[in-house]
Amino acid sequence: MRVLVVGGAGYIGSHACLALAEAGHEPIVYDNLEEGHDWAVQWGPLIKGDLADGETLRSAISDRQIDAVIHFAAYAYVGESVTNPRKYFANNVGNTLNLLNAMLDTGARDIIFSSSCATFGVPDRVPIDESQPQAPINPYGETKLMVEKILRWYGEAYDLNWMALRYFNAAGADPEGRIGESHDPETHLIPLIIDAALGKRGPVKIFGTDYPTPDGTNIRDYIHVLDLADAHIKGLEKLKAGASSQALNLGIGRGYSVREVIESVARVSGREVPFEEGPRRPGDPPELVADPSRAISTLDWEPRYTDFDEIVRTAWNWHSR
Ligand code: UFG
Repeated sequence: MRVLVVGGAGYIGSHACLALAEAGHEPIVYDNLEEGHDWAVQWGPLIKGDLADGETLRSAISDRQIDAVIHFAAYAYVGESVTNPRKYFANNVGNTLNLLNAMLDTGARDIIFSSSCATFGVPDRVPIDESQPQAPINPYGETKLMVEKILRWYGEAYDLNWMALRYFNAAGADPEGRIGESHDPETHLIPLIIDAALGKRGPVKIFGTDYPTPDGTNIRDYIHVLDLADAHIKGLEKLKAGASSQALNLGIGRGYSVREVIESVARVSGREVPFEEGPRRPGDPPELVADPSRAISTLDWEPRYTDFDEIVRTAWNWHSR
């Protein structure tokens, strides 16, 4: 397949390009490089374009004879989405409509969309399966849920085939060290801990030690970015084989607390990790863990990185270079 990877210069998108190329597909990256990096585009051409630009999107799809689209491009800072929702709705929703409309105009009919566990808000119970109610608690999660809803209606009306993959916490890097996680500013836990261990920044702050969890810190389901990437490819292959459009939760089904993540980085790196205990970060649910069973059965997919230290090791190798 020739796959237009929108946002393919970003963290998860670039790993998807690597996985697509390794599976014998042809990734063509569409990215405005606002958050992405040109050095991360290594497995196919880069079209430097913006999602706001419908004309460039249409010609990218028709000129390159695109078979399918994977859509990663979005703003993804939860805190910023609360203070500047306009930016998030305009890009994550409005510009996604440009992409979907460009697909309709050019005859492209298969899309995998990056959704998020943030669409669930504070879950009633964990692990979270697809039957749980979606009730986002921030504009970022709301934008992802809105696009899921748009996909459903577009699917019914226009025969658009789609899958919305709801990631839990993407983690790790290409084990060969060609690409990895690089955000500016960095807000994600694992890179911040690694930087603290490397002395590149001060102690990592633990956001809250009074959560109703065994060690008081909150719990997340960290899934290796290449496992996420594989799920996208399986999703596209399934859609092409006639699978029905649907949303799936992608995690490994196990959660780790902030303290456990710090301990893992200390083990893997052999260094001390300086940390400080601080107050809760507003809007953080205590525990987010996926029930990935539907994704496993629907996609014939399984996370390969099930050892948490191994996930952290791939991140450590990338950052310490
Ligand atoms: N954390 C800290 N200190 C930090 C940074 C994070 O204690 O300096 C904690 C957070 O409170 C959270 C965990 O580490 O419990 C993970 O935090 P991240 O910021 O790495 O990730 P989030 O779980 O907040 O966010 C991720 C994705 C978002 C998505 C969200 C859904 O990055 O895009 O999951 O909840 F919206």
